Amino acid sequence: MKNYKIVLLSGDGIGPEISEVSKKILKKVSIRFDFNIEIKEELFGGIAYEKFGEPAPKKTLESCKSSDAILLACVGDFKYDSLPRELRPETGLLKLRSELGLFANIRPVKIRDPLINASTLKKEIVKNVDLVVVRELTGGIYFGEPRGIIEIDTSKDKRAFNTMSYRTSEIERITDVAIKIAKARRNNICSVDKANVLEVSQLWRDTVSKLINNEKQINLTNMYVDNAAMQLVKDPSQFDVILTNNLFGDILSDLSAMLTGSIGMLPSASINNYGPGVFEPVHGSAPDIAGKNIANPIAMALSTAMMLEIGLNEFNSSEIIETAIDKVLSEGFRTPDLDDGESKIISCSEMGEKIINEI
Ligand code: NAD
Ligand code: IPM
Ligand code: MN
Repeated sequence: MKNYKIVLLSGDGIGPEISEVSKKILKKVSIRFDFNIEIKEELFGGIAYEKFGEPAPKKTLESCKSSDAILLACVGDFKYDSLPRELRPETGLLKLRSELGLFANIRPVKIRDPLINASTLKKEIVKNVDLVVVRELTGGIYFGEPRGIIEIDTSKDKRAFNTMSYRTSEIERITDVAIKIAKARRNNICSVDKANVLEVSQLWRDTVSKLINNEKQINLTNMYVDNAAMQLVKDPSQFDVILTNNLFGDILSDLSAMLTGSIGMLPSASINNYGPGVFEPVHGSAPDIAGKNIANPIAMALSTAMMLEIGLNEFNSSEIIETAIDKVLSEGFRTPDLDDGESKIISCSEMGEKIINEI
């Protein structure tokens, strides 16, 4: 029997609530499809800071590195906002991505039929949405040096700065990922940048164009990020694969989430070409609703499906989770974030039970 070792990082806020659902899903699919899955839980984020004084403790990182895949819920809480930057939960997440070399973040945005009325946008606009944001994840302004806040002189004036920088090789490897994904889809890549203003975006555009020029099958368009934000709201079904940098990808993926009805619907995979990936919802720890059993567990469940598919090659289990989610949604059940006025509102754990019953 196949045996997989995964690490589960439940993190903060709604993390433990949505992780509970995914644990049960994993148990059910492993029985149904006859494989063994060993789930090792480790502390990560604010909870790890509370216990060990750092958000990404060595023990957690070591477990992650020696696993087959990592399933991460979410980290962060406003109560940690005043900590020194290196101790903040979000910095722990960046460290995990960086230490594991997870340069490619894949965020599929697909409207599920029963949710056509859940988006704040008109049904005609969102009905054919099926796109993927391919976000560079270990470079750009998130990691660029120099960075900091300095006092300018004896006056109260301060100066803060970050550096957005990319090397050609970093742009090439994320473009390769986008090409591979586009070839398995509709062969269209829209590269999003700000090349009309930023040198780093000029290098991005030149590199992407040069590489994709050799790919006759791929149709490349380039778009400025401000226009891309507008187009995503105006006519989102024009997009197939959106290829972009770390910062723009962060912003455009939250924007895209609302096309599907809720940020609670969007999964992601953070991967490289050699080691274990991190599978994580796009949303954060939602401290405003934590502990109330009202969070939407579907983004986490879909991240679990992505882990099974991309991380463990268990395609049947992945598919059955997706089908189960569609079935429950088609019966009209929703967590409160997806309320369209006509649905049956249920809790996070009830949504979990209903999905599990369909597996
Ligand atoms: P957020 O995504 O946590 O929440 C934004 C809004 O969406 C909130 O109203 C929240 O209630 C709602 N929401 C999010 N996920 C939901 C779900 N599954 N079901 C129902 N509603 C959901 O973003 P934020 O409020 O800007 O950030 C909160 C904390 O999370 C911060 O500390 C932030 O840094 C952190 N964060 C972490 C991650 C991550 O772990 N990957 C991602 C984004 C933000
Ligand atoms: C995300 C989050 C993270 C990011 C934060 C929490 C560091 O917003 O995964 O989208 O900006 O990458
Ligand atoms: Mn984000």
